[in-house]
Amino acid sequence: MRLKDKVAIVTGGAMGIGKGIVTVFAREGAKVVIADVNTEAGQATERELRDHGFEVFFIRCDVSNEEDVKAMIQKTIERYGALHILVNNAGIGVYKSITEATREEFERCLAVNLIGPFLCSKYAIPHIKASGGGSIINIASVHAVQNVGGTAPYAASKGGLAALTRAAAIDVARDNIRVNAICPGWIDTPLVRGIFASSPDPEGMRRQVERRQLLGRLGTPEDVGYAALFLASDESSYITGSLLFVDAGMTAQLETW
Ligand SMILES: NC(=O)c1ccc[n+]([C@@H]2O[C@H](COP(=O)([O-])OP(=O)(O)OC[C@H]3O[C@@H](n4cnc5c(N)ncnc54)[C@H](O)[C@@H]3O)[C@@H](O)[C@H]2O)c1
Repeated sequence: MRLKDKVAIVTGGAMGIGKGIVTVFAREGAKVVIADVNTEAGQATERELRDHGFEVFFIRCDVSNEEDVKAMIQKTIERYGALHILVNNAGIGVYKSITEATREEFERCLAVNLIGPFLCSKYAIPHIKASGGGSIINIASVHAVQNVGGTAPYAASKGGLAALTRAAAIDVARDNIRVNAICPGWIDTPLVRGIFASSPDPEGMRRQVERRQLLGRLGTPEDVGYAALFLASDESSYITGSLLFVDAGMTAQLETW
C-alpha cells in the first residue's frame, strides 16, 4: 500500500497506459480519478476496478479544454478533499512529416499532448501544494529525445513536454512538488494496435517490432504503471526534473552503427 490515502488524477486513464497506471495506483491504496474524453471507456474502466473493490471515479474531461480541466480538478477536490498526484498521460499520435502535416493537425497534437499537461498542472498545483505536496508525472515518449521521420507534430509535442517537465520542476520545487516524465518505448495499447492495423500486414509488423526490442517483447501498460508508482511514491523523494526511460533499452542503442 505505497500510495495509501493518496489522491491521484490520471488523464487518459480509460484505456492503454493510463488504465495500467490507474490499476497499479488503486492496488497500492490510492483514490484515483480517471479523467478521460471517452465516456464509454472511462465508465467501463471505473466499473471494472470498482468491482475489484478499488476506489476510482470517472470524470469526463478533454484536457485541451480549459473549462473541462478546471471543472475536473474541482470535482476531484469536492469528492476526495485533497490532491497529491497528477499523471499527465492523455495523448494522441499524429504521425505526419513536416511537409504533410497541416497546421490544424499540428495544433491539435500540441493542444492535447502539451497544452493539456500545462493546463492540468496549472490548475492542480495549488491543490497539491495545499495538500502538503506531491508528484506530477508527465508521460512523454522516446520521441522526446530521438526521432524517426514522419512524426513531426508528435515529436514536437513530446520534446516540449520534456522541457515543460524540467521548467515546472524548478518552479514548484519549494512547494514540495516533484515533476518528472516517463519516456515509454513500444507499449501494447490501443494506440499501438492502431499503428499495426494501419500497416498492410499487422501481425507481421507486430512480430518485427517485437524482434527489434532488446528484451524481445512490447511493454505492458503496467510496466509503465510501476515506473509511475515509483515516481508517485516517497521512494523517489530526491528525484525531480528527470526523464525515466521505460523503453527496453531502445534509446541506449546506436541504430545506424
Ligand atoms: N503506447 C506506446 O507505445 C506509447 C509510447 C510512448 C508514449 N506513449 C504516450 O503514452 C500516453 C498514452 O498512450 P496510449 O498508448 O495508452 O494511448 P491510447 O490511445 O491507447 O489511450 C489514450 C487515452 O487518452 C484518452 N484521450 C485522448 N485524447 C484525450 C483528451 N483530449 N482528453 C482526455 N483524454 C484523452 C483516450 O480516450 C484514451 O483513453 C500518450 O501520451 C502517448 O503519447 C505511448
